[in-house]
Amino acid sequence: MRKFLLSGAALVAIGAFSAGTAEAKKLTLYCSPQEEWCQLMVTEFQKETGIKVAMTRKSSGETFAQIRAERDNPKGDVWWGGTGDPHLQAAEEGLTQEYNSPMLAELHDWAVRQHEAAKGRTVGIYAGALGFGFNTELLAEKGLPEPKCWADLIKPEFKGEVQMANPNSSGTAYTTLATIVQLFGEDEGFEFLKKLHMNINQYTKSGSAPIKAAARGETTVGIVFQHDAVTQKVAGFPIQVVSPCEGTGYEIGSMSIINGARNLEEAKMFYDFALRADVQEMARTVRAYQVPSNKNAAPPPEAPKLEDIKLIDYDFKTYGSSATRTRLLKKWDDEVNSLPR
Ligand code: F6P
Repeated sequence: MRKFLLSGAALVAIGAFSAGTAEAKKLTLYCSPQEEWCQLMVTEFQKETGIKVAMTRKSSGETFAQIRAERDNPKGDVWWGGTGDPHLQAAEEGLTQEYNSPMLAELHDWAVRQHEAAKGRTVGIYAGALGFGFNTELLAEKGLPEPKCWADLIKPEFKGEVQMANPNSSGTAYTTLATIVQLFGEDEGFEFLKKLHMNINQYTKSGSAPIKAAARGETTVGIVFQHDAVTQKVAGFPIQVVSPCEGTGYEIGSMSIINGARNLEEAKMFYDFALRADVQEMARTVRAYQVPSNKNAAPPPEAPKLEDIKLIDYDFKTYGSSATRTRLLKKWDDEVNSLPR
């Protein structure tokens, strides 16, 4: 009887312990693509694994700043999505850790190159070209000519008609800054950005906000990734997507495991999950039209075709480096954003 009681107690203890372990199955996700896609990833991952996900959506530059601020006491496990440059900077600064997923073999070269460039501390999950979109009804109402090139956006008739995000918070806007500098050279590029500043009605926090504003008729032009403009068009808004005539930059949307992640096993499970073809193909259901990094995932038919776009040879190594990103952002604050308009 005593023996029975003892083993009963032991069983209770084991039960409590395993309940404790089950409770421990959780993941803190920092998410930088569109909110709808972040939510979908959370729902699907939870459904499949039972792991409880706490997710926050913040723009790429903001998430980078948060991870850096938390470096001595990391709170996040995985940073999923957002432009590649700040992920590369995080890798360089030791804020993220190496992981060699078995899924790497299924990825396009451009996604694997991102992994190699960061010594395994990040990986490509999608790609997308920069550009802009405009509201066709507003343009006609205002009698403005159709903008086709970057150079059109600095013409005086577009004063107050253009919106973009702030490159400090937004990866989209940092990609814009780096693209202009690579297209025109740094001196001429900054002259361009100063003229563009005169035409900007607002710098938003999030990268896709300007095209949502254009869809609502609050700005004529929004500088965004082309896939974000397509999203608004597919949703029925009078938006035309433009691939600038001079050529344009692009992003390799990336994913990293945070250094010191408290839930490392769950982080790796999410990482492998997010690289799967069937998971990447779900993006289309929430109108996310980036090009997926898994070779077996069919790109959404709505996705802008990268092979038809005049892409620059975007130098991720330089523009994703800590020195260059920090320097260019400060220069933009000092020489562009401080100008009256
Ligand atoms: O809206 C989706 C998206 O454009 C992603 O393709 C990109 O990585 C991310 O948003 C960038 O967002 P932000 O400019 O707010 O950092």
